[in-house]
Amino acid sequence: MAGETTANDATRAISQTPPRIWLNARIATMAPDREGLGIIEGAAIAAEGGRIVHVGDAADLPALPDAERIDCEGRWITPGLIDCHTHLVFGGDRSHEFELRLAGASYEEISRAGGGINSTVTATRTASEDALVTASLARLDRLMADGVTTVEVKSGYGLAADAELKQLRAARRLGGLRHANIVTTFLGAHALPREFDDKDRFINVLVQDVLPRVADEKLADAVDAFCEGIAFSPAQCERFFKAAAALGLPVKIHADQLSDLGGAALAARLGALSADHLEYTSDEGAAAMAAAGTVAVILPGAFYFLRETHKPPIDSFRRHGTPMAVATDCNPGTSPLTSLLLAMNMAATLMRMTVDECLLGVTREAARALGRLDRVGTIEVGKQCDLAIWDIERPAELVYRMGFSPLHARVWRAQ
Ligand code: NIG
Ligand code: FE
Repeated sequence: MAGETTANDATRAISQTPPRIWLNARIATMAPDREGLGIIEGAAIAAEGGRIVHVGDAADLPALPDAERIDCEGRWITPGLIDCHTHLVFGGDRSHEFELRLAGASYEEISRAGGGINSTVTATRTASEDALVTASLARLDRLMADGVTTVEVKSGYGLAADAELKQLRAARRLGGLRHANIVTTFLGAHALPREFDDKDRFINVLVQDVLPRVADEKLADAVDAFCEGIAFSPAQCERFFKAAAALGLPVKIHADQLSDLGGAALAARLGALSADHLEYTSDEGAAAMAAAGTVAVILPGAFYFLRETHKPPIDSFRRHGTPMAVATDCNPGTSPLTSLLLAMNMAATLMRMTVDECLLGVTREAARALGRLDRVGTIEVGKQCDLAIWDIERPAELVYRMGFSPLHARVWRAQ
């Protein structure tokens, strides 16, 4: 499958991983066949070859004579957390724009005046691939300190073939440098770069020149576009998405963040994996997403940082059964956030998502948003053994605290 840059390293690592058993744990499996968080108390997990071979009663453990046995002393275990929406790889920072916004300028004003995404594009184009990797590793390490084992990373700050490919290669390299699954997304249609004055012509270039190169080099697991007045229209996004689908690439979309352009409905119509942001999504949009199985990715970091007041329609998503995920949206312009635990706290506090919704939103539903639910996101037999072991008394503590990670240990593919 496209997407596993880490495949070689990971395969090597897995074949060397001895069987391991975690005993005496309280496990929030997140398995869909159980209620809520799928809790099993006083239970064990066993892994062989990096995969889970048993979850449940220690009395039923398979015979694994060489297994390393770890006593969890009653600690809680969740699946390794999944940050399903980040722009982790970028050059520079936007602290200057932060100051402008503190002085009264809006995100849209800064963007229309030539700042915003395009200032990060300049910094990313001039950075070497190595420099991008180094800067991004520091951010990845912060995410991992919160028990994250899978991270989606978007491009979108190159906006020209070579620079987009450089960003995607840098993202892929992260997976070889850390024990984490890196899933990449080609966000080709993020903004109109300065050298273009016509959005349709830019989409033509994406479709004809950039997308085929990204697909050829297998640098992306999905594609994304920013559907918004300051970015691209639904028709322009659709043209990009259809070309991507013809190359076998699934779709994600930045939709309805600042206005309702019908991005959620477009996502549903195209069978997108996810639609993200969704502050202005209508009830019809939420229903269409539910029917299509498109995940609503809630990004409270950007909502907070932009001091938005128009909340995503969480009640509509609940009523229609639209799956909901939560992510950091880590990016220099609207969400310089590298804590998925804090993202959950914001989703609960600002959006009134429940503790269970938040926790499922950074595990099972985040895996669904990446099309990876067959591999990660729950603690079930057959899945990759990616775990987070916590020094907490109740799962709600993971959502309740601000700026503190009670992580005891992080396990990636049973290592
Ligand atoms: O997810 N909405 C568009 N993209 C980013 C912001 C990018 C930027 O301002 O650099 C987001 O919020
Ligand atoms: Fe984003």
